[in-house]
Amino acid sequence: MAKKVAILISGSGSNMQALVQTAAAADYPAEVVAVISNIPSATGLARAANDGIATHVLDHTLFDSREAYDDALHALIMSTGAEIVCLAGFMRILTPEFVNRWTGQMLNIHPSLLPSYRGLHTHRRALADGVTITGCTVHFVVPELDAGPAIIQAAVPVLSNDDEKALAARVLAAEHQIYPQALRWLAEGKVSLNSEGRIQRNGNAVVDTPSILIVP
Ligand code: GAR
Repeated sequence: MAKKVAILISGSGSNMQALVQTAAAADYPAEVVAVISNIPSATGLARAANDGIATHVLDHTLFDSREAYDDALHALIMSTGAEIVCLAGFMRILTPEFVNRWTGQMLNIHPSLLPSYRGLHTHRRALADGVTITGCTVHFVVPELDAGPAIIQAAVPVLSNDDEKALAARVLAAEHQIYPQALRWLAEGKVSLNSEGRIQRNGNAVVDTPSILIVP
């Protein structure tokens, strides 16, 4: 049976849409049951509704503390029946308590080749450093920001005439390829997080290096 997934967004939701549209295939092992935004005006909400997905807004400005927000978020996710959580441009730091409730069942996508360029403005920093290859990463979420074990990365070349916008767009297209792949593996049980916090593939081999998609 398909695993039920909740996707958390804060913005345009293009990764969310890539997951929703891939998951619509009959043989995909996961089903998106809810899209939740902390920002009421997030344009991804309309995209999700258009694709027939139940949407929810949980506005963080209405809560007194991070802990209270994350408790409400956890309760909302549980009420949707979701077993897996995908962060897709969800621009909020989550409390360790929340993260630990979803250990091994929560993924994030980040627009860099982690562990390089954790945090914000990844493309600006990569361009300033003059790197020739950047990319994106899908990883298990751990309490430390952008630090969880990577499942898959896409390597994207930096072109000589790239500006931040052009590079971001090419990396985003790669994000749309690797996120559905990572969710597929998690939902099928082909990747999991073992008790030591390391990635196990196919239930046995421990693999500390991610799969790599090379974008020409
Ligand atoms: C994506 O590029 C995603 O990797 C990034 O935000 C963008 C969301 O776009 N996430 C982070 O920077 C998280 N640290 P989307 O809403 O169109 O998917």
